This record gives sequence, C-alpha cells and structure tokens, in this order.
Amino acid sequence: MSYLPIKQILQAPTVGQDITVKGWVRTKRESKNAVFIALNDGSTIHNIQAVSEAGQLPDDTLRLITTGACVAITGTLVESLGSGQAVEIKIAEVHVYGPADPEKYPLQPKRHSLEFLREIAHLRPRTNTFSAILRIRHALAFAVHKYYNDNGFFYLNTPIITASDAEGAGEMFRVSTLDPINPPKTEDGKIDYSQDFFGRETNLTVSGQLEGELGAMALGKIYTFGPTFRAENSNTTRHLAEFWMIEPEMAFYELEDNMALAEDFVKSVIRYALDNCADDLAFLDNRQKEEEKNKKKEEQSEMSLLEKLRFVVDNDFERLTYTEAVEILRNSKPAKKGQFQYEVSWGIDLQSEHERYLVEKHFKKPVILTNYPREIKAFYMKQDSEPATNSRGEVFGPTVRAMDVLFPGIGEIIGGSQREDDLDKLTGRMAEVGIEPEAIWWYLDTRRFGTAPHSGFGLGFERLVLFVTGMGNIRDVIPFPRTPKSAEF
Ligand code: 4AD
Ligand code: MG
Repeated sequence: MSYLPIKQILQAPTVGQDITVKGWVRTKRESKNAVFIALNDGSTIHNIQAVSEAGQLPDDTLRLITTGACVAITGTLVESLGSGQAVEIKIAEVHVYGPADPEKYPLQPKRHSLEFLREIAHLRPRTNTFSAILRIRHALAFAVHKYYNDNGFFYLNTPIITASDAEGAGEMFRVSTLDPINPPKTEDGKIDYSQDFFGRETNLTVSGQLEGELGAMALGKIYTFGPTFRAENSNTTRHLAEFWMIEPEMAFYELEDNMALAEDFVKSVIRYALDNCADDLAFLDNRQKEEEKNKKKEEQSEMSLLEKLRFVVDNDFERLTYTEAVEILRNSKPAKKGQFQYEVSWGIDLQSEHERYLVEKHFKKPVILTNYPREIKAFYMKQDSEPATNSRGEVFGPTVRAMDVLFPGIGEIIGGSQREDDLDKLTGRMAEVGIEPEAIWWYLDTRRFGTAPHSGFGLGFERLVLFVTGMGNIRDVIPFPRTPKSAEF
C-alpha cells in the first residue's frame, strides 16, 4: 500500500478508508486503555493522531515509538472522539523505520530556545516553527518565479564564480586551488594567480547584477535568483555571509518604473504567502503573540504578524528622497535628544537606527528612499543631472538615481538603481573609485554597443522571509546559516 501525505488526508478526509502514513513521532501518550501517537511528516504544520488499544501493539514495537522515531502507521481513518482533531487513525500496524533513543535525542517535546535550535540545525526542521518557516520560504521562492514568469521576465543564471567585484566593496571570498601553504609567487613576491585554476584571481559573487545587465540588454527583462556571498564581518540579525538574492534587470525602465516594479513585486509575493500558507502563518502569528506577552508594554508591536502582512499588501509605500529623509531625521525627537548613536548629516550612509525611525516611527509603513549621495553608492548608478535641495533651499550633491526599500523591523530589504548608461560618465566614475576599465571591459561594451536606459534592484531573499515569518534573526530563516565563525552543517 502506498502512503498518503498527512496534509492531503486532513484536507479531504475519507472516513472508513484504510491508509498508511509515514513520518516522525512528535509525541506518544499512553493511557489505561489506549496509546496515542502524534505523527508529523512535514507536509503540513498539523500532526495526525493515531490510536491503538492498550496491549494491541507488541511491547518491542511500543518501546521504540518515542519522540523523533520514524514510523509507518497503517490503519483505518475514523472520526476522532477527542477534541483536538476531526479524524484519527485506528492503528492496525506500526512499522518502525528508525528509532530515536530518548536518552540522546535532543529535540524533546517542549519549548526549546532558538539559540539552542541553531546548534542543532540538522534537526530543527522537525520543529513546528522551523518546518513552518521552511514551507513559507519555499512558497515565497515559488512566488518569485511565478511573478517574473507571469510578467514576461526571463530567469537568467549568472555565474557564482567571478573575477569581478560588482559592488566594489571588496567583501569577497576567494576561490582558489593553489597550495595555501606554498603558493607560486611572482618575481616581486606576490601570489601568482596566473597559475591558479582560472589563470587569474577569482571570487564567489557578491551580486549577479553586472551579468544581469548584459542579459537585459538582449532579452529586455531578466531576473536572477541565486546564492550570493559577502565576507563582511557583520554579526547582526540581518546579515549572512551566504544569502540568496533576486535581481531583476529591465531595459528601458527608469527609476520611477523600477520603484513601481519593486513595490508590486514585494506585495505580490507577500500576498501569495497569505493566500497559500495560511496554516503556517497562523501558527507563527500565534507564536509571535505569545512572545509579545513577555515584552515590555512599550516594546510590544502594534500589529500582529498577519495584520502587518496585510497592511503592507494594502497600503502604498512612502516615497521620498534621501535629502528629504535627512531633513526629517535631523528634526526628529531622537536627533534632538541625542538618542541616535550616529549623528545625521547630509552625506552619511544611513544607519539601521535611522532607517527604522523613518519606517517604524515616522511613516509607519514601508518607505522607498531615492537619490542618495553619489559617494556612498556603487559606481554603476546613474548620476543625477540636478543637485538636491531641501525645504530651506540648501543645495546638496552630487546624487545618483538609487533606491532603497526599507521595511518595518527589517530596515533595507531592497537596494537598486537606474544604471549609468553613458559610457563616459560611467568610466569617469570608475576612475574616481579605482576600478580598471579592463577588468570589466565586457560590461562597458553594453554602453558602447546599443546602450539604453535601464534599471534593476536586488531583494535579499532571507530579509523577505524574515519579514513574512516575523522571526527576529536571519539565522532562523535559512536552513543552514553561514555567518562569521560559523559554517557547521
Ligand atoms: O544593496 P545591495 O548590496 O545591492 C546589490 O547587490 C545590487 N547589485 C542589487 C541590484 O541592484 N541588482 O544588496 C541587495 C539586497 C539588500 O537590500 C539586502 O536585502 C540584501 O541584498 N543583502 C543581504 N542579505 C543578507 N545578508 C547580507 N549580508 C546582505 N547584504 C545585502
Ligand atoms: Mg544596499
């Protein structure tokens, strides 16, 4: 007999049917008259209950049915007499695939801290919280592909090993097959990468954008969705050394079109999760409500997880320039009371405390900031022709056609821009920041042959999953996180 996913059984139960389910025991409870097994197979957050009469199962089998054991249960689906479930399985037979020694199995049926669960990342998908997160993560990834497919974009696979530093921030992991103890040296004592695997120095990519632009200049609208690597030593709840990024790139899009796409895209994938992950989101919504109870009144959030998701889907994002944002921040209460750790002035890279003030306190909704100072943004962003002015008529600049989308609880979720399509301006900026034209001659060729206005952005996939699941730490929304000093599993 083949087995059925628990999700399918619970969605459309056929009472009286003989079935087999296979999964991992969450709990076993014995009363005077019966044995109750709660089984979960990962297809849904819900367990199925299986019941046998006391004395029915052989003692040898019963002993092996403990939390974490993998079993196949065959029996008849019947209406449940208990209050927790509509149906249950009246057990005919249990086969134990793999027992889990209760003395050693670390995941006992009680509340474990997220920190402890990170130490057993190989087992944490067996908890309600992590299985819910992983199913939602899957649904969001599917929604991303669906959104772009439905909107005429082509999925472009950009390289993971690359010789260029797309963001120019120098935060790359080297890829090399040279002997680390005794690498070949050039005459002036430097490592001779010409003898390395690719005949040059190579790294793991920090972004697929540069190659993405090549695709857009031929296919019109493309997107990438792949792993991205950054060797930045940021031990925060928002940074991973290995994360997944979605990067659409569109010919003929200007900054305004780029913003409209970003807003529509994020809303669309969140709506998909609301429509397709109701059980898992309800579980996480509840979990968050429980957590909130332990917080101080002033730290409790005004909206529940589900309310927050619906709010983002139903409301327009606020759009303003960096210059306007700086003015709001400088006039803000925390600035006047000296409560920001970093003082705000035109030209600074906004810190997450500033971004969160704008999103969570001032506008209370997602915000798109545009036209940032040129000095703090990447070389490829289109230069604004006019300087920026604030409400007092003060003039600032130069600025670029950048946009960052900021989300409550997250800060920056998307970074993007219109691209500099003018060859001279682009190479001029590269010279200022010290990027050799020879290093990315192929990128510059798009500006030499058939250049066009174009734009794109990058969405950090884990930051999206963080927002949708309401979790507090990015390490908890990717199966096996990579962070400084941590690459177990
Ligand atoms: O703002 P970033 O650095 O932009 C780029 O890489 C551009 N090339 C994107 C483009 O225009 N095609 O990164 C984009 C997003 C950020 O907004 C953030 O959500 C996420 O990637 N991100 C990270 N997520 C997790 N851990 C990290 N260390 C991240 N660094 C960036
Ligand atoms: Mg950014």
